[in-house]
Amino acid sequence: MNRATPDATLIDAAVQDALRTWGHEPTRLLQVLRQAQEPLGFLPPAALERIAAELRVPIARVRGVMAFYSFLYPESPGAYRVLFSDNVTDRMRGSKERMREMSQRLWVEAGKVSEDGLVSLDRTSCTGMCDQAPALLVNGRPVTNVDAVRASQVCDLILSRTPLDAWPAELFIVEDHVRRRDVLLDDPMRPGDAIRAAFARGDASGTGPQATLDEVKNARLLGRGGAGFTTGIKWESCSRQAVTPRVVVCNADEGEPGTFKDRLLLNQYADRVFEGMTVAAYGIGASLGFVYLRGEYRYLLDALHATLDRRRREGLLGGAIGGREGFDFDIEIHVGAGSYVCGEASAQVESLEGKRGIPRNRPPRLAEKGYLGLPTIVNNVESYCSAAQIVLHGADWFRARGTSRSSGTKLLSVSGDCERPGIYEYPLGVTVQQVLDDSGARDAIAVQAGGPSGKCIGQDEFARRIAFEDIETGGAFIVFDGSRDMFEIARHFAHFFAHESCGFCTPCRVGTSLLRNLMDKISKGKGSQHDLNTIEELARLLHNASHCGLGESAGRPLLDTLQRFRPAYERRLESPAVEPAFDLDGALDRARRVTGRDDPGAHLGEA
Ligand SMILES: Cc1cc2nc3c(=O)[nH]c(=O)nc-3n(C[C@H](O)[C@H](O)[C@H](O)COP(=O)(O)O)c2cc1C
Ligand code: SF4
Repeated sequence: MNRATPDATLIDAAVQDALRTWGHEPTRLLQVLRQAQEPLGFLPPAALERIAAELRVPIARVRGVMAFYSFLYPESPGAYRVLFSDNVTDRMRGSKERMREMSQRLWVEAGKVSEDGLVSLDRTSCTGMCDQAPALLVNGRPVTNVDAVRASQVCDLILSRTPLDAWPAELFIVEDHVRRRDVLLDDPMRPGDAIRAAFARGDASGTGPQATLDEVKNARLLGRGGAGFTTGIKWESCSRQAVTPRVVVCNADEGEPGTFKDRLLLNQYADRVFEGMTVAAYGIGASLGFVYLRGEYRYLLDALHATLDRRRREGLLGGAIGGREGFDFDIEIHVGAGSYVCGEASAQVESLEGKRGIPRNRPPRLAEKGYLGLPTIVNNVESYCSAAQIVLHGADWFRARGTSRSSGTKLLSVSGDCERPGIYEYPLGVTVQQVLDDSGARDAIAVQAGGPSGKCIGQDEFARRIAFEDIETGGAFIVFDGSRDMFEIARHFAHFFAHESCGFCTPCRVGTSLLRNLMDKISKGKGSQHDLNTIEELARLLHNASHCGLGESAGRPLLDTLQRFRPAYERRLESPAVEPAFDLDGALDRARRVTGRDDPGAHLGEA
């Protein structure tokens, strides 16, 4: 198995196949590129030119889109492309060592392709497998729990050029690791139940779809993706727009390092996700639906399509849903291509339109002008599951769990230094300590809730609550014990943000790089107190001046750890003195000697 440049016939077949699936719409550019790349392994110039011609878009746009997404390749990444998941949890479980071993066995340097073109080895941001770290992707397929034995097995299979389909199936098993269930994961809801309930509510009250909006509003469901916006208000605002068709988007990008709860919902509860989207479509009067599935979860795609097909056969998608004339709605799945910022709602809409995922200026809000200028709602996977439950069981039932300001339950993705990593469902308001106890985290010194863009909590705060009024989290709950160096954790997050910044606005593009460089400087023992002050200033500047949430939160892990674990920084400082970026004295030294003004006492007026 080797991947030289594919011949014209192969390129033609790959492009034609992608076009058969996606049609000739420029809005499908990203999906056409992604699908055409699957059989080819990369996108040679001939494929790009062909796609540009078929979609009638400038070749510059095609190249621009390709360059934006890290899972689209202009050159062959080898017949086997090994990407190590690079979250702190992967590193804590030995990913660096495994990568080193594989690099030696496979004769390939990290970041390069082997000379024979067989294999490349590199890192990628968190792949959403932190409960079974370290993880890697081989040609996009996840391999989890990569210990030394597994790493060696993967090397054997690559060196013997075994086709991926012939690899032992157990290598590709992804466990769900559900550790605690509550009403969301235990609900025996059947496909169609919530849709029928939505119809019944509307008919009984005589208010039609408005009854669905009212129920979701009264339930006070706050978005489960992290920002916590009131779902019912977003839906109602979209429903009030005059323009049709309206659009429902499910944000299944789950890119926040440490989060993997949507993976479970998409794997085991796909019907519930689609049901929630359909109920939303009924409420807001939408006919177009999209799931934006992160590229790392490509392995779930076939099963998701099968569920969609079944729902169409059952009359739960397509025309006249549930027998109701005029209620037409269907869902298309778009697969992302390795860009964290595409989790941001407006960047995601750009990506759905086949463009680079650059966050939009707001206003206008997406509810007014979203996908192709149409009124659009974007919600998290879990939000749709909860919405389906609310419509079925009622707002009062939902509010009976959680706190007065944070109703319902929440899925947490627990990972790091604990005995039982996995998914835990709790009523909102659960204490951090309770989660630590349940997951067997004995010596925790810190928890990173909400991933790098969330909050770092120290030991003295473990009585605080996971709730929107206290500690918000989209789901990530990463535990660190006393053996961990919180400076190194923060440095890792600084690298993450610098890598994922889309580069559109200067504060974030420059600021994230500067933060990364400062953290590297301190880690080499060359930092000073002045650098710590600069970090604090930069982090605040990023927060205030960035165009989107990525830049706004990029400095947070540094501020949080500086506040709670300052000694971890200070013990690395070279000296408390300032190390200037420009050595003025050194630069003037030669001039002084030439002019004879190098007498050490001269500046004291003794000459
Ligand atoms: C850089 C960045 C990445 C994000 N990634 C995700 C994500 O992967 N999934 C998600 O649901 N929301 C993500 N969000 C939040 C979305 O912008 C949006 O608030 C959310 O999808 C709305 O859904 P919700 O109200 O149901 O939570 C991200 C935001 C930012 C700034
Ligand atoms: S803040 Fe960062 S990620 Fe967001 S638009 Fe600016 S450069 Fe891009």
